[in-house]
Amino acid sequence: MALKITVIGTGYLGATHAAAMAELGFEVLGLDVVPEKIEMLTRGEVPMYEPGLEELLRKHVAGIEGSTGRLRFTMDWAEVAEFGDVHFVCVNTPQKHGEYACDMSYVDAAFSSLAPHLKAGALVVGKSTVPVGSAARLATLLPEGTDLAWNPEFLREGFAVQDTLHPDRIVVGVRSERAEKILRDVYAAPVGQGSPFVVTDFPTAELVKTAANSFLATKISFINAMAEVCEAADGDVAKLAEAIGHDDRIGSKFLRAGIGFGGGCLPKDIRAFMARAGELGADQALTFLREIDSINMRRRGQMVEMTREALGGGSFLGKRVAVLGATFKPDSDDVRDSPAMNVAGQIHLQGGQVTVYDPKGNANARRLFPTLGFADSVLDAVRGADVVLHLTEWREFRELDAELLGGVVASRVILDGRNALDPAVWREAGWTYRAMGRPTA
Ligand code: UDX
Repeated sequence: MALKITVIGTGYLGATHAAAMAELGFEVLGLDVVPEKIEMLTRGEVPMYEPGLEELLRKHVAGIEGSTGRLRFTMDWAEVAEFGDVHFVCVNTPQKHGEYACDMSYVDAAFSSLAPHLKAGALVVGKSTVPVGSAARLATLLPEGTDLAWNPEFLREGFAVQDTLHPDRIVVGVRSERAEKILRDVYAAPVGQGSPFVVTDFPTAELVKTAANSFLATKISFINAMAEVCEAADGDVAKLAEAIGHDDRIGSKFLRAGIGFGGGCLPKDIRAFMARAGELGADQALTFLREIDSINMRRRGQMVEMTREALGGGSFLGKRVAVLGATFKPDSDDVRDSPAMNVAGQIHLQGGQVTVYDPKGNANARRLFPTLGFADSVLDAVRGADVVLHLTEWREFRELDAELLGGVVASRVILDGRNALDPAVWREAGWTYRAMGRPTA
């Protein structure tokens, strides 16, 4: 009999995982404790912007015309426990207020709500990013005759569907052969298409996730440190990244210098990792992550100073600053810990007249920082601007008509915080183009 799957927590990770499991042919029941989310998903609507996710959801949500009907949603824990053979826990683990450590309260609540209802033989699979040691602790909350596995998720926002259906690797931390066998069945399709399947113990599975994110953060901060040196030495960090990236051992990805990393994962994951290492008495092993975080955070201030300089120095008072991009990366409406919002906010708080435009992130950005100015198009955002800041590399911005924009700004000055625009195009149209870590002309 085919396995039945439940997904607990239908945020970014859970909604994508639920839709992907339905796409792989399983009957899926998703649970969330927020009624609005369940109502939206049941109508086939996705609570955030993620390319391809709404289509996938609508293909499977029961009640939608032409759907397979394999995917349903509920708020009832007993129904979930009764329905499922495999329960994926996908709730979020944000950074605790005022601390580096991660907040495990949603994971703990999910386990305590599910545990009393579980059927014998049920397999609970943790997907949330948790401090190492959590799985062993959570296993003690489950009833006799049930089992736990840890299966971290590596999906990127903007590529969530693709990353879930065709993952670079599947990592499963297990304590029993049965759990491994069940997960091999669940992931038979992606493994059949070439995704490596790595079986490990609980702590290693938990660590793989935080180690991967720490490595990615390190790559970005490394190249941003090189950008600082290039700025001092009049070198070109984009060329430098291209050149070192040709070495296979280094690789060319994640070497784009700019205003640094943000979002709901990398910043909080490296902080939670440091906090956990401290608890384990291994804090020395991760002191370098403090430096990675600090290089990253100072990029935002450096962008503010570059803007001040481009405006002739001194105060921002009375200066009009257009900000293109609010989200932490393109193809997402996520503004959590977004470097773009941080830069826009700092300039605004120092008296600048800031107008932000983002193709998908305006609504979230407005909620986060209601006193900033917002525009509905690039042209409206840059009209009368003394300087234009390019802070999130949406395709729309990379394809802008420099001549057209030049006709509406007060001053043709553009600062590229993502090293993603073509300097030649802007300079040929009479703009002063500056990017971080690159020569001024
Ligand atoms: C990340 C991990 O990539 C993913 O595997 C994990 O599951 C969740 O965290 P995500 O948060 O979606 O995914 O974003 P990612 O694509 O990693 O980008 C993170 C940040 O780094 C963005 O703000 C991006 O703009 C920045 N970045 C990325 C750079 O500044 N330079 C680069 O070269 C690459």
